[in-house]
Amino acid sequence: MPAPTLTSLPQHDPDPIARAASLAAERDRYRYTWHRPEGVASAAEVPRSDAFDLGVLTRYVGVQAMLAAHDMITTSAHRVGQLVRHHEVATAAGQSFDERLAGAMKLVVRGGEHRATPSVALKWFGADVPSLIAILAAHPERHDELFAWQRLGGANPFALRRLETTDAAAPFDEAHFAAAAKAHAIDGTLASAIDGKRLFHVDFRYLDGARDGGLALEIPKRVFGARALFVQHLGPSPRFLPVAIQCVPSGPIFTPADGIGWSMAKLVLQCADTHEQALTYHVAQCHFVMEAFTLACVRAFAPAHPIRKLLAPHTQYTLAIDAQVRDTLMKPGQDLEALMATTLGQSILLVEDAMHAFDVNAAMPHADVKRRGLDDPGTLPHCPLRDDGLPVWSAIRRFVGEYVGLYYTSDADVVADSEARAFGQELGARWGGRLASIPEVTSVTTLVDLVSYAIWTASPLHAICNDSQLEFMACSANMPTALYGNAPTTSPTEADLLALYAPEEISMSQYAFFCGQTKLEENKLGEYPPDAFDDPRVAPLITRFVAELASLDARIDARNASRPAPYVWLRTQTMRASIHA
Ligand SMILES: [Fe+2]
Repeated sequence: MPAPTLTSLPQHDPDPIARAASLAAERDRYRYTWHRPEGVASAAEVPRSDAFDLGVLTRYVGVQAMLAAHDMITTSAHRVGQLVRHHEVATAAGQSFDERLAGAMKLVVRGGEHRATPSVALKWFGADVPSLIAILAAHPERHDELFAWQRLGGANPFALRRLETTDAAAPFDEAHFAAAAKAHAIDGTLASAIDGKRLFHVDFRYLDGARDGGLALEIPKRVFGARALFVQHLGPSPRFLPVAIQCVPSGPIFTPADGIGWSMAKLVLQCADTHEQALTYHVAQCHFVMEAFTLACVRAFAPAHPIRKLLAPHTQYTLAIDAQVRDTLMKPGQDLEALMATTLGQSILLVEDAMHAFDVNAAMPHADVKRRGLDDPGTLPHCPLRDDGLPVWSAIRRFVGEYVGLYYTSDADVVADSEARAFGQELGARWGGRLASIPEVTSVTTLVDLVSYAIWTASPLHAICNDSQLEFMACSANMPTALYGNAPTTSPTEADLLALYAPEEISMSQYAFFCGQTKLEENKLGEYPPDAFDDPRVAPLITRFVAELASLDARIDARNASRPAPYVWLRTQTMRASIHA
């Protein structure tokens, strides 16, 4: 860790030779590799200063121990129950002791034949059932509404897009819309919904080639390239509702009038969404994008640079957690391979694709919300990413703008800053961060945008993806990591629906995996270590920033009162400052 240095831009540093030497030492300490996954920038090794310290490791081990104990207790109770049931059935069937023993061993080894239906998957939470899962359990009649709500206020609010034409809506047509409208007791047509800018879709067809994934407990795991249509119904009681789902390209289309087929189709879509959430947004566009920002920051900015001092708390432990993601999660036999329907190779390929597709300009929150047609409260009343997220983004950008303004009075100051220009070049370089569409850093606006985006990714964006996992993804009956049966045909049965659910032991593992990722909290947005800044002008900016964040939380709480379910992951009072879980 370099010694604390007085803040200065390179063009004003009284000792440029010493600065160049410290920067060279940093570039030696932080080196890239691009093979984990292939073509994605990562740290060749994690310097000791960036590793988890003993306190964090202790807390991490504590979380794992708590989950292991929970798993052991739940599994034991579950297996005893299974064995008792099996014994009763086997005895009633007149089986011999040997036959009963063989059956019991099969249950223990394979985890039994029981599937984690919604009521079973609920058991793993004990008394701490997440609010959305509790609402679904108590009010099954609200399932359609809360299924749709998860496109806006769920774990992946990045898939939904507005449709502009009936051609874009194909193969969904007026007949599908009419069936859904009748089931939801609403009026209107597909054409009128498009004219009113109230028709939306999600499209996961790109996953379809990966549908024959690995095995779990000898059962094939599956994910399908589903797509779905949604409508915003306006009036005195606005409702965002599902219209139709196609589970596989060119396959049959299901609407809310289709009974079991509709229930299966919703589960198929949720599973596809799980894959996009975890691989495209959480792993790739949060963890790995932030790793590229972290490396570019420490390699381009000398320790005395004000931007390096600002970003340091927002990069804390990011290299460490990403190394853990690569060394454990993404290894053969570990959770990614065990839980997801895609094979390990397919999952890694999806992460690579997401990194190559990342476009920082399109990902800027205002641009993202507008490009996907979510920007009009008149046609889409509830949208947490827009209503909660954009004010948080604005607060971050205002704070960064004020901070940058302490050191740069004009674009010429940025052009004169060789380290700021190197930061942009490093982020996009082939032998650097390899992020596409990184603009040249030659203006105050561009510098503020990039730094704000780094903080947005480290904090709110990761909170959206990471912190919501317990609520939405820990329950395999809500967001399955894999399906264990076939996509619905034209006349599916209850048995077909049951076959889709995970075996109970896999469901328990899914709970433990997503629960564990939400527990470690080592820092907080708006809190900077006492020695983070030597410039006394920074403290008042932080005070204003923290006050603005607190005021936003009060407004989020007020909005939650009228939403289909509370959305709490953009509340800043519980938001981490950096990606470390
Ligand atoms: Fe994470």
